[in-house]
Amino acid sequence: MCGIIGYIGNKNAVEIAMEGLKKLEYRGYDSAGIAALINGKIHTVKCKGKIKNLESLINEKLKKAKIAIGHTRWATHGKPSDENAHPHCSGGIALVHNGIIENYAELKKELEKEGYKFISETDTEVIAHLIKKYRDKMPLEKAVINAVSRLKGSYALVIIDEQQPEKIIGVRMESPLVVGVMEDEKFIASDVPAFLNYCNRVIFLEDGEMAILERDEIKIYDIKGKEKEKKLISITWTPSMAEKGGFKHFMLKEIYEQPRALADTIRGRVFPDGSKINYDDLGLTQNKLNLIRKIYLVACGTSYHACLIGRYMIEKIAAVPVEVDIASEFRYREIPFEKDSLLIAITQSGETADTLAALRYAKKSGVKTLTICNVLGSTASREADAVFYTHSGPEIGVASTKAFTSQIVALYIFAFALSMAKKYASKIVYKKFLKELFLLPRMAEEALKLDDNIQQLAKELYRKPNFLYLGRGVNYPVALEGALKLKEISYIHAEGYAAGEMKHGPIALVEEGFPVIFIVSNDLYLEKTLSNIEEIKARDGFIITFSSSNTDKLKKISDRFIYVEGLNSYLDTVLFSIPLQLLAYHVALLRGCDVDQPRNLAKSVTVE
Ligand code: G6P
Repeated sequence: MCGIIGYIGNKNAVEIAMEGLKKLEYRGYDSAGIAALINGKIHTVKCKGKIKNLESLINEKLKKAKIAIGHTRWATHGKPSDENAHPHCSGGIALVHNGIIENYAELKKELEKEGYKFISETDTEVIAHLIKKYRDKMPLEKAVINAVSRLKGSYALVIIDEQQPEKIIGVRMESPLVVGVMEDEKFIASDVPAFLNYCNRVIFLEDGEMAILERDEIKIYDIKGKEKEKKLISITWTPSMAEKGGFKHFMLKEIYEQPRALADTIRGRVFPDGSKINYDDLGLTQNKLNLIRKIYLVACGTSYHACLIGRYMIEKIAAVPVEVDIASEFRYREIPFEKDSLLIAITQSGETADTLAALRYAKKSGVKTLTICNVLGSTASREADAVFYTHSGPEIGVASTKAFTSQIVALYIFAFALSMAKKYASKIVYKKFLKELFLLPRMAEEALKLDDNIQQLAKELYRKPNFLYLGRGVNYPVALEGALKLKEISYIHAEGYAAGEMKHGPIALVEEGFPVIFIVSNDLYLEKTLSNIEEIKARDGFIITFSSSNTDKLKKISDRFIYVEGLNSYLDTVLFSIPLQLLAYHVALLRGCDVDQPRNLAKSVTVE
């Protein structure tokens, strides 16, 4: 995720901005830049790669600045490059931006018609020109308000202007910004750690708020330009806690980021009324989609579980046959590929060696390829014929959480795009299901409220040596992923199984008190899963049920029952995954495990 820092005061502003950027490095980034005001003129330095590269561009002159803004970019629109790095400038204005502007393409067209020249591929440059356009007619504050009223999407913006060289302006919508307040100096950043070494008295901006920072004054306005009173908060976090946004671990932070991450995956892809899916940028046309007759879904680890969920969705929603395989197996099979096939490689990092090999194997065999990927400019995204970015932000915890649920959402959107292209289901059906997608981020917030219950449950369970996770249909892969999460970070032996297959083996393990976790949707599998629960009950297993169905029968038969409010069976896979991630997290914590860096595991496996 991108990072922002801004400083105005008497100190060396560029040094403070550089220090701030270093504090934000943990968020992941691919380029960095700084803009500083010196004698009323903006000077900008920026480059692809690490902050070290940027440091070599800082000259003595820049060190004289008392006002500076800085940015670490994690590419979302346009590859990592010097040109695409922030700040972006227009007519004496420089700004940095976190977030995604959905309507940037139409704004870009409008501005180009008016003669504005673009030198980057970013959505951000549009904002710089838009503010400049308004600032030519009105003061900067008003220009910012006018410009952001034209933006659809999410943004945290920090702006400086040669015409008002004693100010920094910050404004936010769905992307965090925090102001640091000292008597004769002010800070603004995407996260507290950027300036925590200097200042711990802060104001958190809310959506639609604008902050005007001067050396000795801070004013906050609402989006209509009306001044607001805001509370100053003293931060007591340690620097390491601050990096994690106050959470104990990155994994927990990332679990809690899911409502935002999911919204960012959906953003700009699906029309809010559910009428249309936008996939022009994927390199797939309606015609190309219509021709697809077979899909291969290939991945490793958690991404493989997303593939398994994707199979249920694509086969049901678009009636296209799907084959799923683990990349390390797929790459060595001798597959008689069918004509008009599409291979979808799912990889959050875009660098997993086996997944890349599978992708290359398919390409070499003449099969079209798509990757669902979280990292812009990664190898998979460069090599595949088409890319669907999940935009869930960098994931630092080794065990994948938000990247996984975003992959599910991407597959759900893809399944509907395919179905629409093939005119398989009626428009009414699409609309219903696509509208439900927009409820998902809020429902994910509800699922996170189960955290206290899950913590209690973890206390009961953390000493158990073995676990069985069971589900049917689309919840079978949810069970696999639940078990994988627990085993990855708590080192407890856990197995996921198809509930209907359980009696062909795993049931032999069940004895008094053996914990069996059931994932049950309110769908056609409900009764069948109930029978499987009965089978475990008869053998005195300890039944923990996560369900979107609230029936008395289910509650009565379960030793512990967690109700997860659902939307539909497909999207419920996301909602069930959240409490299962939390369960793994709390169990691991109680067992004293290193949650963010489990033994023997790596975030990105670039070897075979
Ligand atoms: C490693 C990680 C997993 C991840 C898997 C696939 O094993 O520890 O969390 O699911 O790689 O990674 P990818 O980047 O291809 O999704």
